[in-house]
Amino acid sequence: MAAPPLKLVVVGHVDHGKSTLIGRLLHEAGALPEGKVEELRRVSERRGVPLEWSFTLDSLQAERDQAVTIDTTRFWLTLGGRDFVIIDAPGHREFLANMVSGAAEADAALLVIDAAEGFGDQTRRHAYLLRLLGLEQVAVVVNKIDLVGFAEERFRALEHEARGFLAGLGLMPRVVVPLSARHGDNLMAPSANLPWYRGPTLLQVLTGFGVPGPAEAAPLRLPIQDVYRYDDQRILVGRIETGRLRRGDTLLFSPSNKLAQIKAIEAWPGPPPEEAAAGRSVGLTLDRPIFLERGEVASHIESAPLLSNRFGATLFWLGDEPLVAGRQLRLRLGTAEYPVLVERIERVIDTDSLASLAGEAVERDQVAEVVLRSPAVLALDDHAQLPRSGRFVLRDRGATLGGGLVSLRGIADQRRPANVPDRHLTVVAHKVTQAARAVRFGHKAGVLWLTGLSGSGKSTLAMAVEQHLFRRGYAVYVLDGDNIRSGLSANLGFSPEDRVENIRRVGEVAALFADAGFLCITAFISPYRTDRARARAATTPGAFHEIYVSADLATCEQRDPKGLYRRARAGEIAEFTGVSAPYEPPEAPSLVVDTASQPLERCIEQILDYVAQQFALGESG
Ligand code: ADX
Repeated sequence: MAAPPLKLVVVGHVDHGKSTLIGRLLHEAGALPEGKVEELRRVSERRGVPLEWSFTLDSLQAERDQAVTIDTTRFWLTLGGRDFVIIDAPGHREFLANMVSGAAEADAALLVIDAAEGFGDQTRRHAYLLRLLGLEQVAVVVNKIDLVGFAEERFRALEHEARGFLAGLGLMPRVVVPLSARHGDNLMAPSANLPWYRGPTLLQVLTGFGVPGPAEAAPLRLPIQDVYRYDDQRILVGRIETGRLRRGDTLLFSPSNKLAQIKAIEAWPGPPPEEAAAGRSVGLTLDRPIFLERGEVASHIESAPLLSNRFGATLFWLGDEPLVAGRQLRLRLGTAEYPVLVERIERVIDTDSLASLAGEAVERDQVAEVVLRSPAVLALDDHAQLPRSGRFVLRDRGATLGGGLVSLRGIADQRRPANVPDRHLTVVAHKVTQAARAVRFGHKAGVLWLTGLSGSGKSTLAMAVEQHLFRRGYAVYVLDGDNIRSGLSANLGFSPEDRVENIRRVGEVAALFADAGFLCITAFISPYRTDRARARAATTPGAFHEIYVSADLATCEQRDPKGLYRRARAGEIAEFTGVSAPYEPPEAPSLVVDTASQPLERCIEQILDYVAQQFALGESG
């Protein structure tokens, strides 16, 4: 099979000769339609102007516009025995929108600079976007070198500036090449006008770019586009974005976290194949009837996407209204669409100056690092690992308002291994019933889950309430953060992953206590909503009571009972909740206890009253 064509995007300021360069390359490659050059030559002569290569693009574009509408213009050509697709990005907005949506994913880039005018704003912006998109193969073209009399000095100054600027972005240009697209100097062959230049010609640069790794070598990602039903058969259809699959493979579907084996692969045209790889559209039938919808992503178990309802993103904002925290949008990710909310704007970057602004709002055309949250759990891939699946588009009422790249740094995987089948487990039922236990202890069983910032008073309240209830004859026990972390969770720290695991364990243990008939009180920061939701799910329905121990950060910090806030502010403790790690307050707690504005005794009473109401045995006992 022939190597796939190298996708090359040509970027730069609008007047710096991109079109001329592309037109000239098409001509050199013999890719212009028969008679096109003669026609242009005649037109140019008639107008008394020199031949304009950029006209070729205009006239090709006009012809294409009638056939298809595409946002970026693409040209196919062969140079030096290698196939290329050249992507002409008109403006940076279109460029970004297309790159992010995948419509114009490029393998390499040429950044064009005008030798006379030097760097332009757009050039800087484009360079920044290349970096943002993770494009590493970049060459700089100093065009119109004829206009500065082929002067080495001018070229060296621009080369120096270009290398410095790109290095500042973390981009290493392969080469900086002087050339004249209009006259052809240093395009296909070294130019006698540039005797001082010993570097490669443009042709050498282009053929020197590395070919992209095959998409099939990456982990399998098959976003489900649709589910067809024939009688009681279900066929899942979609395009394999990366990786490969074989008949008999076990697939893991995300975010539903369901497993099934491939019974048969249907592909068009031809008979059912044994396997299929990236780029191919397939239909799959599975060995068991599981309910799946459009938007699920099929992968293999060992290389699955991460599941989370929160993730980091670098996004480019195209909306007219500034983007602010709290804004709700629709997130398009593969074939899925979810509601999302901008939880936090961490950094705003001005694409002209590349300055990092401490903005609270992202203006149109600005780039920002944000945290997005969704009520749903999403299947996510980090853009740096899997560029194809790690990007998304943001929409609102049908309009595309931005695009971005997923960053999963510091984001914990919320996938539960529980759904993995074939673990040969059989759950055994107890012969002692819940009701019998409740009669023995004289109250209902359940979990009082206290959540709140460090220093909000969770432990103090929990221990006081335990003491009161114990005296009243309750079977009650407190699971406390620092205590559990000295034993059951001694092997865990405070990274997001470790906190998730800590709360998972506590949730399961609390559920066991409740199952044993106890009233279990937990006192953990438990900063993530989804973890608390999972702890709730582990408990008998209705027996989990979320209590928000509310005190604002300033109050907790002032109390600082363990001196930890001070140390966190001094940088001695990393990822400290409220200071350098997030806390997500409950959305609908059963009870809010405000320790900042009420005395401790009142708070204890409040919880005791709640327990008396909720845990008393009913008439039926
Ligand atoms: S949780 O986030 O996993 O729920 P947990 O409640 O168990 O936290 O532990 C919190 C306690 O650990 C705090 O009260 C504090 O004493 C201590 N601690 C030590 N380091 C940190 C940290 N980086 N963030 C929060 N608490 C910390």
